[in-house]
Amino acid sequence: MAVELFHKNETLQMRKKLIAQSCRLFFSHDPVKIVRARGQYLYDENGTQYLDCISNVQHVGHSHPSITQVAGAQMDLLNTNTRFLHDNIVQYADRLAATLPKKLSVFYFVNSGSEANDLALRLARQYTRHQDVIVLDHAYHGHLTSLIDISPYKFRKLEGQKEWVHVAPLPDTYHGIYREDHPEPGQAYADTVKSLIEEAHKKGRKISSFFAESLPSVGGQIIFPTGYCKRVAEYVHEAGGVYVADEIQTGFGRVGSHFWAFQLEGEDFCPDIVTMGKPMGNGHPIACVVTTEEIAGAFTANGVEYFNTFGGNPVSCAIGLAVLDVIEKEDLRGNAVRVGGHLKQLLLQLQEKHLLIGDVRGVGLFIGMELVKDRESREPATEEAAHLVRRLKEDRIVMSTDGPWDSVIKFKPPMCFSKEDANRVVTCIDQILTELEDVQKEDCGKS
Ligand SMILES: Cc1ncc(COP(=O)(O)O)c(C=O)c1O
Repeated sequence: MAVELFHKNETLQMRKKLIAQSCRLFFSHDPVKIVRARGQYLYDENGTQYLDCISNVQHVGHSHPSITQVAGAQMDLLNTNTRFLHDNIVQYADRLAATLPKKLSVFYFVNSGSEANDLALRLARQYTRHQDVIVLDHAYHGHLTSLIDISPYKFRKLEGQKEWVHVAPLPDTYHGIYREDHPEPGQAYADTVKSLIEEAHKKGRKISSFFAESLPSVGGQIIFPTGYCKRVAEYVHEAGGVYVADEIQTGFGRVGSHFWAFQLEGEDFCPDIVTMGKPMGNGHPIACVVTTEEIAGAFTANGVEYFNTFGGNPVSCAIGLAVLDVIEKEDLRGNAVRVGGHLKQLLLQLQEKHLLIGDVRGVGLFIGMELVKDRESREPATEEAAHLVRRLKEDRIVMSTDGPWDSVIKFKPPMCFSKEDANRVVTCIDQILTELEDVQKEDCGKS
C-alpha cells in the first residue's frame, strides 16, 4: 500500500482548507507527517524514526501484527450489530469481568470515551433520580455537549459552569490547597467534596454522581492521596449518588501493578460505574461502560431500548480480545512496572541535577515531570516545558505537555516502551535542560 498520496506540503495545505481548524495538529509550527508505525516507533514520509512517548491509545504497540491479523480475519467473516447473537461480545465481556471486582458485572459497548461517559451520566441520573454532578477541577471527560458541561478544562473557556455542576479542588499535593506536608491529604481533599455536597443540599440540589479519572491526566498526571477515593465514595453514597471512575486513559494495565488504576486505592474500594476507551482497541474505536446489576436494572426499567449501531460489534470485540491477549502474552503490565520504575528513577536523578524539575510523579507507564521556574514558589515553567517538547522533536522524540499550565511533561507511551527508550529520552532531556539552564545563566549575567 502506498504510504503517501500527496507531498507533505500539499497534505498540509489540503488539511488547512478542508479540515476544521479547531481540530489541531501536534507541533502546529512544523507538523510531522507520519505514514507508518510499529511498536513505539513512528516513521515519517522520509523514513525518519520518532520515538513515541505519548500514544496511550496504541496500547500494545502501533500496528501490532496480532491485532491486525485478528481484525482482518473477523472483517472477512462477519460484522453485524449486537441484535444478532454472537460469541465475541459475550466472550469479551466475560474476559473484562475477570479483571474487575465482582460487583461490576453488566457491560454496555460503545465507540468512544465520550459516548461511554455520556452513558455513565445517563445511568447515574436514571438510577439516583438526581441531576447534579461533582467533578474535579481541570478535568476532561469528553467532547459531547453533556461532557463539556462536566469538564472544567473546557467549560471554563466557554459559557461557564452550569448550576448542576459542582467543581471540587484537584487533589494535587504538589500545587493544590493541601500539599505533601499535610498529615492526611486524602481525608482533607475528600472533605472538600463533602462540603460541596452540603452546599448543594442547602440549595435544594441533589447529587447524582461524582466523576473522576482514577489518575487525573489532563489535570497534570496526578496521583490521588491515599484514602481519597474511598472517603469520597462514602460521602457521595450518603448523598444518594454514585462514584464514576473514568479509566479511559488509565485502564488496561497502564499502572502496571493493577489492571485498573482505581485498584491502587485498595481492594475495599470499588466504583459504581467504570468507563473505558482509548487503549481498548489499540486504535480501533471501541469503548465501554461497566456497572452494577442495580444501576443497569434501573436503566432497563425505564422501558427504553439502548441501541448502539456500532458498539460491541464482532470486529470490535475480536480486536478487544486480541488486545487483552497481547497484554498477557507479552507481559505488558510487568513491562510497565519495570520500565516505568526505571524511567521514574532516571527522572528523579535528573531532578537532583536540574532545578527546573519541580516534581516527578507517576506509576507504571503513567508518569509526569513538572517543570517550575522556582522550586519554592512552584511557579509553572510553561515556556520551558514547550521548549523542551519542541527540542525533543528535533531529537526525534514525540512528547507533549499537560496540566492546568501545560507545565507537566507527560509520559504515556505504548506499553512496549523499553528501558533503552527510557534511557534515550532521559539523556535528551538532560542535554536540553542543561542548554536551557546555560542560556538562563548567560541571560542573568547580562542583566
Ligand atoms: C479522561 C478522558 N475521558 C474521556 C475522553 C473522551 O474520549 P474520546 O476522545 O474517545 O471521546 C478522553 C479523551 O481524551 C479522556 O482523556
